[in-house]
Amino acid sequence: MLVGKHIRKYLGLFAVSALALGLSACGSDEGGTAGEGAGDAGELIKVGFVAVGPEGAWRQANETNIQETLTKEAGFDLKYAPATNLDQKSQIDAFTSFVDEGVDAILLSATEGSGWEDSLKRAQEAEIPVILIDRGIEPNNTELYVTRIAPDNIAVSTSVAEWAKSEFPDGGKYFVLEGPAGVSVVNERNQGWDAVIGAETTFEKIGAQTANWSTEEAKSVFETVLKSNNNDVQIVFAQNDEMGLGAAQAVEEAGLKPGVDVKIATIDGTKNALQALADGKLSFVAEYNPLFGDVAADVVKKAVAGETVDSYIIANSLTFDSPEAAKEALPNRKF
Ligand code: AHR
Repeated sequence: MLVGKHIRKYLGLFAVSALALGLSACGSDEGGTAGEGAGDAGELIKVGFVAVGPEGAWRQANETNIQETLTKEAGFDLKYAPATNLDQKSQIDAFTSFVDEGVDAILLSATEGSGWEDSLKRAQEAEIPVILIDRGIEPNNTELYVTRIAPDNIAVSTSVAEWAKSEFPDGGKYFVLEGPAGVSVVNERNQGWDAVIGAETTFEKIGAQTANWSTEEAKSVFETVLKSNNNDVQIVFAQNDEMGLGAAQAVEEAGLKPGVDVKIATIDGTKNALQALADGKLSFVAEYNPLFGDVAADVVKKAVAGETVDSYIIANSLTFDSPEAAKEALPNRKF
């Protein structure tokens, strides 16, 4: 199920199964394979997880799922290294420590898209396979890592844009609440949205601003946007749930009705967002599936065994476009 194509439900798009990357490239010159001996019967696979750490509900779900899947019982010795206050230098330091320790594989969820070349080259020289979790790197040099496991941000944000087009056939004024500058998924989400909405002359972008994935910050940003536009904003594209919930609070505090006066679409699909969709405060939620720990476990085993792995493995995701869809899904949601 894992390696190869994933047909995503709803979005109906196939995983980009880029050139399969022969892991023997990571093997030693003598033709050995990366992490030789690792994963042999009884021996745990040592994995360093350079993680983001506390950031919001999505991150909590993703990193918990990985830690609960790559357990000793499953054959792994996982060392979790969350960033200090989302600081990339703390991640690079942890990455370097894992390379020096000689782990068998490294998982990397990058707080910043750029600035990873030196670290990735060090891992390559040490023949340690690196697997990107969620976040990509920029420039995207697929020679420097084994694979990236993530939902497809462009497809996910395209689904939001297609919803906006269908919801507003005559167009409207919109504002984008972005994640932090320099994070790969932010650029990808803008790319998917802009490819659809940017082509529509009936839609007017009144602005975009980061609210750093935060509900409080998004509320403050959108309060200002409403005031400076005399409340004449029809759509908010919030690049994660927490920011969308903040925008909904700002709409209510302006004496307007979210879901009526201003329609808010978000990405992630957390329980709080689906509850807000059920309550009519959000209008569209595109899931960005965080639960791919099983995928990561399988890829690590294949990587250390020197097996071929696709360079981009997409975690399938759903979309929710009505209170009824949210109410139906809520009882079974895992994050
Ligand atoms: O990289 C994924 C993004 O990071 C999620 O959409 C957001 O909630 C998280 O903080």
